[in-house]
Amino acid sequence: MSSPFGEHVDVPVAQYDTGDTYRMVSIDAGYEASEEDIASIVSICNEPLVYRFLFRDRLDGNAYAEQDAQEFLDWARNGWISGRHCFFLLRSPGGVIATCIDIGELDESGEALVGYWAGAYHRGVITNAMDRLAELAADAGYRKLVSLVEEENLRSLAVLKRTGFTHVGSQEHSLTRLDRPVGKTLKFRRYERAL
Ligand SMILES: CC(C)(COP(=O)(O)OP(=O)(O)OC[C@H]1O[C@@H](n2cnc3c(N)ncnc32)[C@H](O)[C@@H]1OP(=O)(O)O)[C@@H](O)C(=O)NCCC(=O)NCCS
Repeated sequence: MSSPFGEHVDVPVAQYDTGDTYRMVSIDAGYEASEEDIASIVSICNEPLVYRFLFRDRLDGNAYAEQDAQEFLDWARNGWISGRHCFFLLRSPGGVIATCIDIGELDESGEALVGYWAGAYHRGVITNAMDRLAELAADAGYRKLVSLVEEENLRSLAVLKRTGFTHVGSQEHSLTRLDRPVGKTLKFRRYERAL
């Protein structure tokens, strides 16, 4: 198994209001994290919105640390190599990490969970990144994108609305961090987008 997107992806994504060109780049076998990359990830993952919805419950209230970023990048790189999950970083025109988007394994069902976060200084990128991911995923053979969102995550719900996802119900989902269960289950709204 290996990534259904090939060895390496590097495609442009326009920021909605400024038209600035960001690059959506795979975290693949050739990726090496710089100190700036680690610092950017730590900083964004400790921003209130990102921390609240992605890390508060997974880190038991502890701050997102440099080691968390390093472990995340290793895990993401290995996921690309094995095809288990595929992560993409979006870099600003200056090369700084701005947002991240990911998709789960391509299996017989053709459906996979997607996830994302965006730094507060880089709004207006993730909607277009999701549309780009949908195109790439359709070309790679995926048939459906699935997102699980907490009811109070209004900004995430807005992204899904803008990118053509439909609310199909609710489900309990056990939280994991880097594939390891963290022993907590939450109720999520389930959204789907056929490709
Ligand atoms: C969810 C999250 C990624 C959304 O980021 P975002 O920057 O608000 O999303 P977008 O870039 O799509 O939208 C920003 C703005 O640009 C506008 N915009 C972006 N692309 C657009 C497009 N193609 N057409 C129209 N408007 C667009 C949006 O309307 C929005 O405007 P507003 O600020 O006036 O509401 C961010 O809030 C986040 O990281 N949250 C924490 C992590 C998280 O919840 N992840 C998802 C878990 S399910």
